[in-house]
Amino acid sequence: MAPRRLAAPVPGAALLLLPLLLVAASAGLSGYFGTKSRYEEVNPHLVRDPLSLGPAAAGSRLPAACAPLQLRAVLRHGTRYPTTGQIRRLGELHARLLRRPAAAAACPAAADLAAWRMWYEESLDGRLAPQGRRDMEYLARRLAARFPALFAARRRLVLASSSKHRCLQSGAAFRSGLGPSLSLDSDEEEVEVNDSLMRFFDHCAKFVALVEENDTAMCQVNAFKEGPEMRKVLEKVASALCLPVEDINADLVQVAFLTCSYELAIKNVTSPWCSLFSEEDAKVLEYLNDLKQYWKRGYGYDINSRSSCILFQDIFQHLDKAVEESKSSKPISSPLIIQVGHAETLQPLLALMGFFKDDEPLKANNYIRQTHRKFRSGRIVPYAANLVFVLYHCDQVKTSKEEFQVQMLLNEKPMLFHHSNETTSTYADLKDYYKDILENCHFKEECELPKVNITAIDEL
Ligand SMILES: *[C@@H]1O[C@H](CO)[C@@H](O)[C@H](O)[C@H]1NC(C)=O
Ligand SMILES: *[C@@H]1O[C@H](CO)[C@@H](O)[C@H](O)[C@H]1NC(C)=O
Ligand SMILES: *[C@@H]1O[C@H](CO)[C@@H](O)[C@H](O)[C@H]1NC(C)=O
Ligand SMILES: *[C@@H]1O[C@H](CO)[C@@H](O)[C@H](O)[C@H]1NC(C)=O
Ligand SMILES: *[C@@H]1O[C@H](CO)[C@@H](O)[C@H](O)[C@H]1NC(C)=O
Repeated sequence: MAPRRLAAPVPGAALLLLPLLLVAASAGLSGYFGTKSRYEEVNPHLVRDPLSLGPAAAGSRLPAACAPLQLRAVLRHGTRYPTTGQIRRLGELHARLLRRPAAAAACPAAADLAAWRMWYEESLDGRLAPQGRRDMEYLARRLAARFPALFAARRRLVLASSSKHRCLQSGAAFRSGLGPSLSLDSDEEEVEVNDSLMRFFDHCAKFVALVEENDTAMCQVNAFKEGPEMRKVLEKVASALCLPVEDINADLVQVAFLTCSYELAIKNVTSPWCSLFSEEDAKVLEYLNDLKQYWKRGYGYDINSRSSCILFQDIFQHLDKAVEESKSSKPISSPLIIQVGHAETLQPLLALMGFFKDDEPLKANNYIRQTHRKFRSGRIVPYAANLVFVLYHCDQVKTSKEEFQVQMLLNEKPMLFHHSNETTSTYADLKDYYKDILENCHFKEECELPKVNITAIDEL
């Protein structure tokens, strides 16, 4: 059957303009890549100088009489390759375009994509890309520059990671970024694997049953895929590729958009896949990505954030311990705790703490109303995203500040505490604000599945 042509043939002259258009396209799209965003998207000054501490550096300094006691960083791994599933879907989409030489002649976009070399191999399966190594090395160097006293030679560093290869590699890259002068005792070279902390979502039976393995849990995401906004994007992409719109679906369009983001993050190039999308399309696809994050990792279901209680409790236990040690004039046993996990590790923790919460839930039918939403995962958890807790001890003779102060930095920018709208809080006030979570949120109870009444089921 002859392909149905939805687009008029483009005059040859327009092809010459294509490279220029592509560069412009990528510049416009890269802000909408969601969890596949480059770290530079949230810190543009790093494009010029990856070691620059940026404009926020001077902003929120504590008085000189406050010295950092402990730094805890929860990191997302650096830039990674697509997963096997994504690579397979991309291979299928690409193969389909290769099979249509006749259509390609009339469709420059399809011809460009057919000429594009499919270089991703399934074995790359979500591994850390060379760029991801650099993300981590530079991040380590910037953190060390920001907190020189904590990263001083021979300070004890605890480095823990999820068991995923990309996280272990990120941990190793972070450590190598600290350089020989900051190297650690040889018996602490190993990255310690701790999935109960860094992949708590896999271990939370209630989350797995209610959300992960529950098809209806993602109903808003699925409804948006079938909704009018996505329909428009699908029609445009189908027309650009000279494919009948019935031949593509939201998942294939998402793979094409993902590829545009991967090529930029991994290879720093604007791929022809980007030319399929306008900025308006990118906003729709960003929303689709955010919807999934919202319902699977964010405020959509309580269990998403409650499953991170184990990490939340662990953070405060170590802060408590450092406070106790400081009070009794002991050396701080864990001045530096670096933990490498996933976007799925950070997003629930931030939700548990109440950050980036919109007044209304993100839904399939409120795309327009959510234009200015806080919950934009590309701004929150790009590659190499990092949430840093810094505990300070302040000398009260020299300052009116309370003895123990805390700051939180997300992606190296100080966060405003909800209880004060300030970037610094006393440790006591912070604990008071999160009192309910500290007292009542415990992984075991939160994640237990409700007891099944076997008698009742038998009777059905
Ligand atoms: C992981 O961390 C938790 C909380 O700190 C701890 O209880 C557990 O023993 C650790 N597991 C491993 C394997 O180190
Ligand atoms: C699946 O999710 C839906 C929507 O939240 C919920 O009503 C239902 O109880 C869940 N099913 C299971 C088995 O948890
Ligand atoms: C990425 O590409 C841009 C534009 O071609 C260039 O200015 C920049 O230096 C490149 N960045 C890296 C890290 O190679
Ligand atoms: C923080 O600022 C926001 C916006 O200005 C305001 O709505 C909120 O009430 C403030 N919170 C506190 C604790 O001052
Ligand atoms: C289980 O279900 C049966 C029948 O509905 C009911 O009579 C019984 O009290 C339930 N048992 C428990 C422990 O909830």
